[in-house]
Amino acid sequence: MVKAATIATEEVDKMLVILVLCTSFLSILYLTAPSIRKFFAGGVCTTNVRIPGKVVVITGANTGIGKETARELARRGARVYIACRDVLKGESAASEIRADTKNSQVLVRKLDLSDTKSIRAFAEGFLAEEKKLHILINNAGVMMCPFSKTTDGFETHLGVNHLGHFLLTYLLLERLKESAPARVVNLSSVAHLGGKIRFHDLHGEKRYCSGFAYCHSKLANVLFTRELARRLQGTGVTAYVVHPGVVMSEIVRHSFLLCLLWRLFSPFFKSTRQGAQTSLYCALEEGLEPLSGKYFSDCKRTWVSPRARDKKTAERLWNVSCELLGIQWE
Ligand SMILES: *[C@@H]1O[C@H](CO)[C@@H](O)[C@H](O)[C@H]1NC(C)=O
Ligand SMILES: *[C@@H]1O[C@H](CO)[C@@H](O)[C@H](O)[C@H]1NC(C)=O
Repeated sequence: MVKAATIATEEVDKMLVILVLCTSFLSILYLTAPSIRKFFAGGVCTTNVRIPGKVVVITGANTGIGKETARELARRGARVYIACRDVLKGESAASEIRADTKNSQVLVRKLDLSDTKSIRAFAEGFLAEEKKLHILINNAGVMMCPFSKTTDGFETHLGVNHLGHFLLTYLLLERLKESAPARVVNLSSVAHLGGKIRFHDLHGEKRYCSGFAYCHSKLANVLFTRELARRLQGTGVTAYVVHPGVVMSEIVRHSFLLCLLWRLFSPFFKSTRQGAQTSLYCALEEGLEPLSGKYFSDCKRTWVSPRARDKKTAERLWNVSCELLGIQWE
């Protein structure tokens, strides 16, 4: 009896020790989180250029990285259009930015990238009211949604992250050219490394995995920037693709598991402000033009996967995208 009790206490002791060790480990980890975060925070956009009179469109800028990018560009004097699906949320972001930057030229327009009608309506409205467009930031994105299709029948990641922005860029391109020097900045992700363009099953009807669908769409973004940059040579419009870093943002909202992981690890991630730095760098840094078409992370040019450099795939995807959208983009 006595012996059994001793053993039990010993077990409890052991567990206690383990518990204490685990808690101290976790506390140390979390206490050092700010330094770890700083280490991963990466580059900062250091240029001081101001851009009064320049016109900027940012998709999905009602929240997250897009909102921080919009804030900084407004602070530097630009007229900023926040193009987003939820106009109410957009308005609340806009009024916050206006108050914060004392720039009244922060405007909200409705744009639903999962619906080509909405994209066309947005472009039509914009072209009617603005004679210039200097910076287009294709920022909006979805990540790891369950299988679903857009209004036009495209798989959601491909439809929103790639095809939606493809159409938008196409519709606004003349304005960009007329406003040259102008820039297009695309948000992709390091996740493109896991991507592959599955031409035989573009919409994931035969096989679907939400994580890979995200990677595929991000690879499409990189391929497109390269192809676009090539086609835009000599027009004064340049294009850049950006990996913002691992950022705490609402993009995970579609996946419960991701949300949970995100919460747990959030102290280690970049803030949205830090996440906006590379977009800002590509939008503002002077003399970046020779690097048109390149991929940037932490405000530096970065390596892309061989798949993302494949010219044939880029061209084929370009052709297929035009077909899907019913446009002719030579
Ligand atoms: C951005 O991505 C979209 C969709 O992939 C594409 O249509 C557009 O050409 C890209 N632009 C840039 C600058 O990468
Ligand atoms: C894409 O379309 C162009 C023009 O229609 C064609 O010349 C080219 O061969 C196509 N490329 C691929 C890879 O399908």
